[in-house]
Amino acid sequence: MNENDKTPYVVSSKSYTAVAINCAAKAGEWIKSKLGSVKQLSTKTSPQDIVTEVDKGAEQMIRKLILTHFPDHAILGEEGVEPGAEAAARALQAAQEEEYLWIIDPVDGTTNYVHGFPFYSVSIALAHRGEVIVGVIYDPSRDELFVAEKGKGAYVHGNPTYVSKESQLSESLLATGFPIDSKVNLPLNMAELHALLPKVRNVRAGGSAALHLAYVAAGRLSGYWEHGLSAWDIAAGALLVQESGGAVTDTDGRPFDLSVRNIAATNGLIHQGLLDTLKEAGEGSVR
Ligand code: IPD
Ligand code: CA
Ligand code: CA
Repeated sequence: MNENDKTPYVVSSKSYTAVAINCAAKAGEWIKSKLGSVKQLSTKTSPQDIVTEVDKGAEQMIRKLILTHFPDHAILGEEGVEPGAEAAARALQAAQEEEYLWIIDPVDGTTNYVHGFPFYSVSIALAHRGEVIVGVIYDPSRDELFVAEKGKGAYVHGNPTYVSKESQLSESLLATGFPIDSKVNLPLNMAELHALLPKVRNVRAGGSAALHLAYVAAGRLSGYWEHGLSAWDIAAGALLVQESGGAVTDTDGRPFDLSVRNIAATNGLIHQGLLDTLKEAGEGSVR
């Protein structure tokens, strides 16, 4: 190449999915290698909202890798956005129209990671004009890699994933996440738990939105709901659930898109039952 030619070198012929897998696997291995040796723990919007140098380093690693292959693609990564719900919504709004937008959560489940509780993940999605076409979630603790491609199904290490078959709430295992917003979302979530717990087998709160969604996709959970999330928490997982035969909406039943903050994802069979109970609980709670 002529040394005056400033055209960036682009590694060609790698599929989007292959790049997403490569990024998630590399970042996941690195994150795991740093487990137990976090040096800088800081808080964002509240003492419960934490970030470490590992979150930031992993996001840098993923960004570099993506741009090596696709220098003209846009990236929305959690650590590149100011903390807080409004900033997250603004960043998404600004990026949503991009032709290709990568959406990254470098460590989903930072609290678990910091405490050595082995339930955290790397979540990477690619959206084409606002529609998620690739979703990859990697769990380094179990070396489980979940992959979905729009219209082509979802897989965990090459084996197709399918949602579970429970058709009644009474047979269902659900998951949720406890919100950090103590004014609105936390009381609402408590009312929902109060309403749901007597109706279902049980409810878990594992602490990684992305892994909860991957588990719904893989049939390990019948459903999952949570309030106050951002696109990087759920973009990849929503595609995994859809491609595994499940249903994903917001908690009011509107179809999933990248702006959804209150998510409900199920095997489809219990979806309406879950939404109905959430509605009843919401009506009785301070909103
Ligand atoms: C959090 C996790 C957690 C969920 C929070 C998310 P982070 O993401 O997904 O399970 O309850 O709402 O913010 O901060 O660890 O990337
Ligand atoms: Ca997250
Ligand atoms: Ca994160």
